[in-house]
Amino acid sequence: MYNSKIIGLGKYLPDNVVTNDDLSKLMDTNDAWIQERTGIKERRWIKEGSKDTSAVMGAKAAKIAIDRAGLTKDDIDFIVFATLSPDYYFPGCGVQIQDMLEMPTIGALDVRNQCSGFVYAISVADQFIKTGMYKNILVIGAEYHSNGLDKTTRGRGVTVIFGDGAGACVLTREEDLSKGILSTHLHSEGQYADKLMVKSPSIAHWVPEILEAKGEDISYFPYMDGQFVFKNAVVRFSEVIMEGLLKNGLKKDDIDMLIPHQANLRIAQFIQKKFGLSDDQVYNNITKYGNTTAASVVIALTEAWEDGKIKSGDHVVLAAFGSGFTWASAIIKW
Ligand code: ACO
Repeated sequence: MYNSKIIGLGKYLPDNVVTNDDLSKLMDTNDAWIQERTGIKERRWIKEGSKDTSAVMGAKAAKIAIDRAGLTKDDIDFIVFATLSPDYYFPGCGVQIQDMLEMPTIGALDVRNQCSGFVYAISVADQFIKTGMYKNILVIGAEYHSNGLDKTTRGRGVTVIFGDGAGACVLTREEDLSKGILSTHLHSEGQYADKLMVKSPSIAHWVPEILEAKGEDISYFPYMDGQFVFKNAVVRFSEVIMEGLLKNGLKKDDIDMLIPHQANLRIAQFIQKKFGLSDDQVYNNITKYGNTTAASVVIALTEAWEDGKIKSGDHVVLAAFGSGFTWASAIIKW
């Protein structure tokens, strides 16, 4: 029996910055509304003509993470890739990473858990390392939202939130069971799937049917009941963080760094207040990247680490909530 620990982190954000004012030229919205409701000032959207995709961005972040781990692509035993915006309906992005990084024919698994995707993905990787099946696992979260959003006023309640980007980490075996990933906690409540979903294209509503409906009856854009999602998010975030603390005999004061999924700054601030944490104990970067879904936690974790905000021995808590509904946490002793 082993623990797993993170030994390399990397991120990649497209260069193209889209401000709230830029969005107000496409739809009836404004900087004041977006900042007040979400905290977002700008996000990155892949520019037309760029070769970036979820898999391409994931590969760029992965190279950095592998390098920082002091490993090479040949040391990686398994790939876990979390995204809701894969390059293809199938196959998944994981196999593209195996090819793009010219890795040996190792296994590659895609995780479809939206905003909780990265936390679910490291939980999967952690189990493979705990049992001794694999030693080094590459975990990626990446999203290419911008090409799939409704950029008219009809879509403004969803479109202003989301951004593109990728993050990656390398997990390896840790023999000291008091270090590394101490526990992960995963939940779902599928009865609320329709509160935040992309209904089609799907096998039930395939492309010709959508074209015939001219986008009116069967939407191919994301739908979100924002207020319902918000209310559930604040409850589930709190529960799943508390569950992790209790499992490890920790108190709120023991949290050195909380990395919440960057869904909405107001959600993160609510959680911060509820747990009595200072600004130094919570890392947020939604103001500059928006909600990058499965990439958000790993991008924020990478930046917090790059900024020197995470030290050896710190208790780092990752927490996420999103479409499904799914929610998850990970308690890490860095
Ligand atoms: N600009 C201007 N006005 C807008 C915009 C916009 N971009 N979007 C909506 N409005 C209007 C609405 O039409 C509405 O107008 P009305 O009162 O005249 O009807 C008004 O603003 C209020 O709309 P609400 O949807 O009630 O606004 P709310 O305060 O709930 O904020 C938001 C919306 C930001 C989406 C919020 O509900 C939220 O963040 N929800 C949670 C999102 C989340 O956590 N998602 C989970 C992760 S995502 C994933 O898993 C894929």
